[in-house]
Amino acid sequence: MAINEKCRIASHEDAAPGYRMLVLAAPQVAAAAQPGQFVHVKVPGLEASALRRPFSIFDSDPDAGIVTVLYKVVGRGTAALAQEPAGAEIEVMGPLGFGFPVACAGVPLLVGGGYGVAPLYFLAKRLMAKDGMERPILFVGGRTKSDLLELERFRALGVDVRTATNDGSDGVKGFVTEPLDDALIALRGEGRRFELFTCGPDGLLKAVSQRAVGTGSKGWISMDRHMICGVGACFACVQRLRRPNGEEWNARCCVNGPVFKADEIVW
Ligand SMILES: Cc1cc2nc3c(=O)[nH]c(=O)nc-3n(C[C@H](O)[C@H](O)[C@H](O)COP(=O)(O)OP(=O)(O)OC[C@H]3O[C@@H](n4cnc5c(N)ncnc54)[C@H](O)[C@@H]3O)c2cc1C
Ligand code: FES
Repeated sequence: MAINEKCRIASHEDAAPGYRMLVLAAPQVAAAAQPGQFVHVKVPGLEASALRRPFSIFDSDPDAGIVTVLYKVVGRGTAALAQEPAGAEIEVMGPLGFGFPVACAGVPLLVGGGYGVAPLYFLAKRLMAKDGMERPILFVGGRTKSDLLELERFRALGVDVRTATNDGSDGVKGFVTEPLDDALIALRGEGRRFELFTCGPDGLLKAVSQRAVGTGSKGWISMDRHMICGVGACFACVQRLRRPNGEEWNARCCVNGPVFKADEIVW
């Protein structure tokens, strides 16, 4: 059940060049949030037809009543949001959608690109809090080092972080699929099980899906689609899926996702 909560901005700061970290005092949303779910933020200053923007929940602390969002300033909605100061009131609907399972048979392999690391941090935190869970590995890629976001926070959780950059300024020079493939070969050689969890640009999501299907492992794919209503009414966010019997259907990322199984996505 989605909550529409009027809340205060607890803090709002630059996270990296072009990225902002928005911390909201939103106890109701914080109490209900699960990794992979998103909030639909009403951006002050935009006209009624274009008010809300969806963002993954980067972190949620039910005890402190805090929900955190990590976002990139890309257009007029995020540019307007970026101007909102700490202390301002803002309306947030959430938590919305179906997120990642907080469970994993084997090693959790988290694969992120750009702001796609946002839901993976919350997931890593909840996985690490579970008894008997294997240590997650985060694979994160970008054009250059400054595109790799919040790595120290992942490391502080105890996550094994492996990076790739196109210019070689951090980690492997190339795509994030290179260190991922190395790990898949090593894990399979050792006979160890794993599941893949990913969020990022479509090319990355497709590459990770192919590896999940190709290795017979579970893959959990968080789709990024333009959204308007966020609650299933407008069909702006349709993604074609395939059922086990081969039948295809139009899922809405906001209510049926944003996280889908790798083997059900029609690319
Ligand atoms: C479930 C979900 C979770 C998301 N989580 C995050 C997050 O954690 N952090 C974050 O920074 N962003 C996230 N996004 C993307 C974010 O919603 C968009 O970047 C934002 O709505 C853009 O608003 P704008 O008005 O600034 O840009 P606009 O002026 O609407 O567009 C500016 C540019 O951004 C592109 N754009 C707009 N919406 C999207 C989108 N959904 N995906 C990709 N490109 C888009 C446009 O095509 C255009 O090129 C998420 C989107 C979804 C659907
Ligand atoms: S955003 Fe309206 S149906 Fe998904």
